[in-house]
Amino acid sequence: MTILITGATGQVGGTAARILAASGKSVRALVRDTSATHDLNSVQIVGGSFEDSASLKLAMQGVDTLFLAGRDSPDTVALLGNVLQQAEKSSVCHVVKLSAIGARPGSSVELMRDHYAVDQMLKVSPFGWTLLQPHLYMQNLLRFADSVQHEGKISAPMADRRFPLVDTRDVGAAAAAVLRNPSAHARRTYQLTGPKAYSYDDVVNALSAVIQRHILYEAVSPESFEKKLSESGVPGWRAFDLAHIASAYEASDCRVSPDFEALVGHGPTSIEAFFEDHISVFAK
Ligand SMILES: NC(=O)c1ccc[n+]([C@@H]2O[C@H](COP(=O)([O-])OP(=O)(O)OC[C@H]3O[C@@H](n4cnc5c(N)ncnc54)[C@H](OP(=O)(O)O)[C@@H]3O)[C@@H](O)[C@H]2O)c1
Repeated sequence: MTILITGATGQVGGTAARILAASGKSVRALVRDTSATHDLNSVQIVGGSFEDSASLKLAMQGVDTLFLAGRDSPDTVALLGNVLQQAEKSSVCHVVKLSAIGARPGSSVELMRDHYAVDQMLKVSPFGWTLLQPHLYMQNLLRFADSVQHEGKISAPMADRRFPLVDTRDVGAAAAAVLRNPSAHARRTYQLTGPKAYSYDDVVNALSAVIQRHILYEAVSPESFEKKLSESGVPGWRAFDLAHIASAYEASDCRVSPDFEALVGHGPTSIEAFFEDHISVFAK
């Protein structure tokens, strides 16, 4: 019985693959760059991609459970749809998909509409399915390391709203818990959040306390954030989604969920613990 992990060179898939392999499970990873797998000990590596059906066929041989995770792109629906099509021709019987809280057809951001479309595809497929829906990742804050170090501030379009940010290491641990015994989680959607909903003032206060330096939160408009990202070379579709994602969350999307603790057996990582673990990234 083998588990195939996609996105294994990424944050969530990598954590899930390492946890499962360390616990003795038979784990295979589909990766585009086979030289980027030094931290995937005891994981079988198969080169391939979502575009390459022949590689998917090979990677799925003898697999019963598939973890489906990729990176947002304008082609997400077609690419993940191709993976599901190839899985239907294979021995795969359960698919665990990394989705997102806020996935809905009328979302103002494409990545949420795309997640909804693939989630629906999976729900009407012949597979047993489980959806993992995290809130915004704490790791997104790593993108502000430079401005924290050099300008002492985080400029972001999050207004004064509160978001239950979650650590990707927790999302990976929750994925591993489900992948270990997928039939117990069939037809379930789990919402994965941190222990508290944080405003960005809370975020900079926690960061300031950890690095012992006052860091400011500057609330900027989605439009100016999008312009700055575009000017720095981020593709237009991505700049739009990153700039407008905060306003795409409804109030009900921002509640703390008990699902992580129920799956993993302890509470999720706090923002303070996240910053402690990444102190060298932010401190001068
Ligand atoms: N950021 C957030 O706050 C947030 C919140 C909720 C949900 N999410 C969702 O989480 C997912 C991203 O998870 P993550 O952060 O763990 O991923 P990540 O670190 O961005 O890594 C993406 C992974 O997907 C692989 N990949 C991308 N395109 C591929 C292709 N065409 N064929 C095969 N593999 C491909 C990448 O391989 P390479 O190493 O070769 O590039 C990498 O292993 C997205 O679906 C996103 O919408 C994100």
